[in-house]
Amino acid sequence: MSPKDPGFSTKSVHSGEKLCPVTGSIITPIYQTSIFGFPDLDSLKRVFADHSKGYFYTRYSNPTLEAIEKKLVDIMGAQKALVFSSGMAALTSAIMSLVCSGDHIVSAFDIYGGTFNFFANVLPRYGVTVDLIETTEAGRLAESIRPNTKVIFFESPTNPLLKLMDIAEVGKIGKKHGIPTFMDNTFATSFNQRPIEMGIDLVMHSATKYLGGHSDLIGGVVAGGEELMGRVMSSRYVFGGVPDPQSAWLLMRGVKTLKVRMETHNQNGMKVAQFLEKHPRIDRVYYPGLRSHPQHELGKSQMKGFGGMVSFEVEGANDALGQFLGSLRICQLAVSLGGIESLICPPALTTHRRLSPSERMRAGIKDNLLRLSLGIEDSQDLIDDLDQALNSIS
Ligand SMILES: Cc1ncc(COP(=O)(O)O)c(C=O)c1O
Repeated sequence: MSPKDPGFSTKSVHSGEKLCPVTGSIITPIYQTSIFGFPDLDSLKRVFADHSKGYFYTRYSNPTLEAIEKKLVDIMGAQKALVFSSGMAALTSAIMSLVCSGDHIVSAFDIYGGTFNFFANVLPRYGVTVDLIETTEAGRLAESIRPNTKVIFFESPTNPLLKLMDIAEVGKIGKKHGIPTFMDNTFATSFNQRPIEMGIDLVMHSATKYLGGHSDLIGGVVAGGEELMGRVMSSRYVFGGVPDPQSAWLLMRGVKTLKVRMETHNQNGMKVAQFLEKHPRIDRVYYPGLRSHPQHELGKSQMKGFGGMVSFEVEGANDALGQFLGSLRICQLAVSLGGIESLICPPALTTHRRLSPSERMRAGIKDNLLRLSLGIEDSQDLIDDLDQALNSIS
């Protein structure tokens, strides 16, 4: 590699990889083992005294996990990254490393349903209170800070309405009050958006989505500075949410193509959003790349691309939704997102079904809202598929 800092894709491909000294394999092997043995007692003592000196048990570390973690450090611009067995394992382990009974968290209201459930229903059982603030303004989060606030948490863009938060502003608020800021960057990825460089302390991803990218693994990532990540690592040892080596390897393979996939997701997102916005059967489109998005200027200032997630409201009632979804040939009716294949789901019946109708109304999630995760298929094929399905609504 050249002495200057390599580009995103060069890091995605090469960081963390080394030629196998035994076989010359250029691909990092899957070290499918839970345990590592020692040639003598001194070696065992050395590794137990300092875990960074070797391996002994995969819940602590494993060469395959370490290889993908080094790659993530480089592409996320972090000092340390850790992989987890799911996005929720990443989130819960990181939060538990930051709070104790009696502490308080400030979080934006528009967050992934599983995170919302953890904050609203699980943490209070352990004496941690969470204020969930309905806002897209960083300043409103600051108003809820108390002397015992230990974390400021948010997502941008949010799920499913693609609302944005001023990331640098949240970073400044955290620094001013000496409170760690923690952001879920799953929707944008580090290719489109660089929260650590914008002053955010900890960044997580559901690696199940764009990082893995092929809908064939469940995984999570947390990355940040050495000090906070030391705490997250202790938490991972205790809660044990490490991925198995096979999943870590699949994640590593996915990350190698992140840039080329994200560029296609970005293009498909923009083209499909523009198409839907003009379609007579569509009431409203939510996509930060559209000029009609109320925070388009903020999006332009903090995102390199606007991603592959587009939400929209189909004109008409439930019958229309059923007819439309039943007529799609390429876009698959399924939850999740970020894979190479296009997926579509109605949030009111899936990701946000636990909210009462009035809570959904308050959150702006209508029954006719659909969330589309655009894959990397040819954009014209996706547009034709959506068009024929919209035209099939009677
Ligand atoms: C934004 C976001 N964060 C976190 C998660 C949780 O990730 P996982 O399903 O990998 O546990 C999801 C899952 O859909 C998500 O969409």
